[in-house]
Amino acid sequence: MRIVMIGSGYVGLVSGACLADFGHDVVCVDKDAAKIEKLRGGGIPIYEPGLEQLVASNVAAGRLSFETDLSAPVAGADVVFIGVGTPARRGDGHADLSYVHAAAKEIAQALSGFTVIVTKSTVPVGTGDEVERIVREANPDADFAVASNPEFLREGAAIEDFKRPDRIVVGIEDERARAPMEAVYRPLYLNRSPILFTSRRTSELIKYAANAFLAMKITFINEIADLCEKVGADVQDVSRGIGLDNRIGPKFLHAGPGYGGSCFPKDTSALAKTAQDFESPLRLIEATIAINDTRKRAMARKVIAALDGDVRGKRIAVLGLTFKPNTDDMREAPSLSIVQALTDAGARISAYDPEGMELAKPMLPDIDYAASPYAAAEGAAALVIVTEWDAFRALDLKRLKASMASPVLVDLRNVYREEETEAAGFRHVGIGRGTATLRHEMRQAAE
Ligand code: UDX
Repeated sequence: MRIVMIGSGYVGLVSGACLADFGHDVVCVDKDAAKIEKLRGGGIPIYEPGLEQLVASNVAAGRLSFETDLSAPVAGADVVFIGVGTPARRGDGHADLSYVHAAAKEIAQALSGFTVIVTKSTVPVGTGDEVERIVREANPDADFAVASNPEFLREGAAIEDFKRPDRIVVGIEDERARAPMEAVYRPLYLNRSPILFTSRRTSELIKYAANAFLAMKITFINEIADLCEKVGADVQDVSRGIGLDNRIGPKFLHAGPGYGGSCFPKDTSALAKTAQDFESPLRLIEATIAINDTRKRAMARKVIAALDGDVRGKRIAVLGLTFKPNTDDMREAPSLSIVQALTDAGARISAYDPEGMELAKPMLPDIDYAASPYAAAEGAAALVIVTEWDAFRALDLKRLKASMASPVLVDLRNVYREEETEAAGFRHVGIGRGTATLRHEMRQAAE
């Protein structure tokens, strides 16, 4: 298949490279000339494990190339994907579709022969209809069908997610789109990944419903974690205990400082807005959004409480700034609210992140950036783990304790168990570890 991917950002670049790896002929297009220049030179504008090699091998094989102008590639294409950004629109939480609409208009002028135009960006229900209308209006003679094919990949595991998806969802209104879409994903369904054909609007909604459900699942376990702290129970055992029930499933039940990233916050708010517009409000999702926002600030209060209510003038080491490990992405990262609230309370922050510091610096300009977890911890009254990078899983606790002003560990991702940190002389505060708190209090009462 001859495929064009409009937009060489996260989704576009990963999808384009993976489709080329399946053996298709792929041209990735982006208006950003500097980005295309970098890609042509073998550079990768985003951090994603394995992507550089994947791009390089497919470029070398002649299956993947990069262009700034879509005209010639679109004219020769069987399938044109729209993978441009759909950021949250300022003010009202709706998705900003201006890039999608602009791409549709440009594609329309370049079409030649029957072409399937596919929205891969996360777009609100009804966008496929709008794309169809725009293309038809811009080029009344064009022969095309518009399909929806949402992407479910996670940052940090994007290639694996693309190549071994739980399912592929394709929404079509015109039967002529079915065969080309089957051909695009043939290597996957031969591998037994189910391909689900639905109506176009259904497919658009599936993407939002999936992300909203996952955000809700995380938020549920986060609230249960708070309750665990109060009643003396352990949230990790609760997660395991409920997750072993097949109807619930074990994933996305890891309690933490709240979800962040480029998708969950944006998509939950866009879905809630759509639901309000159609007078069918999604109250569970509205509550999820509100709870998650409050939670990030509550995490700073947890740190302050661990330092007996006062952090003024104290140094606090923050380990992990990105919204999750294996990415340099800082969008909606819980660290942003936590660091801000701690700074407001008078603390001085030293932060370390394996990949996120360059992007963090302009967002958090008033803190110190350290070269290692140990450098961050020097003189600190507390060490706070905000993101569970593997590099933080086997820290030398004795070495940390020796250089800190007071040995307090606030582990917002439950990377450590209190037995080991307490054995190393730390005061340990985890998430939803009420069992440990209870034992600690009982020990203190006995003493
Ligand atoms: C998500 C979806 O998983 C993916 O299918 C969709 O295409 C895009 O949005 P991503 O944002 O890359 O992917 O990250 P994900 O791994 O889902 O994590 C999102 C946030 O939830 C992170 O802040 C993470 O720390 C948090 N999270 C996740 C938890 O707090 N607990 C969990 O159990 C899982």
